[in-house]
Amino acid sequence: MVVTVENLEKHYGKLHALGGVSLRVEPGTLFGLLGQNGAGKTTLIKILLGLVAPTAGSATLLGAPVGTVAVRREVGYLPEDHRLPEYHTGPSLLHFYGALQGMPRRERLVRIPYLLELLGLKGREKLRVRGYSKGMKQRLGLAQALMHKPRVLFLDEPTDGVDPVGRRQIRELLLEEQRNGVTVFVNSHLLGEVEQLCDRVAILKKGLLVLQGTVAELTRSKGSWLVAFEQSPPEGTAWQGMRLEACDRPGLTRLHLEPNENQAIDTFLEQASSRAMRLRHLERERGTLEDLYLELADRGGAAQ
Ligand SMILES: Nc1ncnc2c1ncn2[C@@H]1O[C@H](COP(=O)(O)OP(=O)(O)OP(=O)(O)O)[C@@H](O)[C@H]1O
Ligand SMILES: [Mg+2]
Repeated sequence: MVVTVENLEKHYGKLHALGGVSLRVEPGTLFGLLGQNGAGKTTLIKILLGLVAPTAGSATLLGAPVGTVAVRREVGYLPEDHRLPEYHTGPSLLHFYGALQGMPRRERLVRIPYLLELLGLKGREKLRVRGYSKGMKQRLGLAQALMHKPRVLFLDEPTDGVDPVGRRQIRELLLEEQRNGVTVFVNSHLLGEVEQLCDRVAILKKGLLVLQGTVAELTRSKGSWLVAFEQSPPEGTAWQGMRLEACDRPGLTRLHLEPNENQAIDTFLEQASSRAMRLRHLERERGTLEDLYLELADRGGAAQ
C-alpha cells in the first residue's frame, strides 16, 4: 500500500476537520479525493506529508509512519494556493528545488528542459515568476512537484486556474506518470475531471468519508439508454417490453428496458427499423460522479 489511513482524526478546537477517516491507496492508482470546501481534503494531504500532526488515528506513507523523513524524497507535492519565489525564473526555480532534493546538476540540466516542454513553459525561460500568469504558476508548481521523479504525487487542486487545453495536458501528463508506475493522489472539486482521470475516488463530507470506490462502480449503468431518432417518435407509439420517456437532454429520449438488456436492445432496434424510424444515437445511460456527489451533498450522507 502506498497510503494507509486508519480512523484518522484532526481537531482544531471544537471543529473536527477529520472525524475518523480510513482509506487505502494501492500502488499505481490515480486516486481522487473529492469534497466541498472545508471537507478536510487539504488537512488529510498535510497529515500524509507529515506537515500537520493528527489528533488521533494512524497513517502510513510508502510503508512508513507519516512524517518519516527518508520517505519525503519519494514524494512530490503541489500545495493549494502555493507561492513560488517571485525572483526565480522557471529554470532557476527548478534548479533550486531539484538541488534541495539532492539531484546532481547534470540530472537537473536534463530534467528541466524536459519538464518545461512537457508543461508548455518552453520559450519563457528568462521570465521571472512575478511575470507569470496564474495558469503558468500552476504549471511551474507541477513541474516542481515532478522534478525529482517522485514515486508518489500529492496534488491539491492541480488544474486550478489552468485553461482547458492546459487541463487536458495535465491529465495526459498524470496518466503518463501513472504508466511509469507513479501513484497520484489528487484533491479536487472538478468532478468531470476526476471522473475522466481517476481510477478510484473517495468523497469526504465534513471530515467523514461518505463514499469510496472505483469510478466505474460509482457511475455504473442505470439500466436505461439514451436514444435519438432522426424525427421524434410519434406520440403513443407502443413498444414491446420497453418504455420511452422525455429526457432532460435536448434531442434525446430515455429508453427503459426490461431486465435482459442485451436482448431487449436488439428487440428495440428491430422495432424501430420496422417502423422506418432512423436511429441517430444510442448510448447506455450512466450516473455521473456529479449526480452522485450532489445527491450526497444534499442528503445527510452517513459516514462509512
Ligand atoms: N490551521 C487551522 N486552524 C483552524 N482550522 C483549520 C486549520 N486548517 C484547517 N482548518 C479547518 O478544517 C476544515 C477542513 O479544512 P481543509 O483545508 O482540509 O478543507 P478542504 O477540503 O481542503 O477545503 P477546500 O476545498 O476549500 O480547499 C475547515 O473547516 C478549516 O477551516
Ligand atoms: Mg483544500
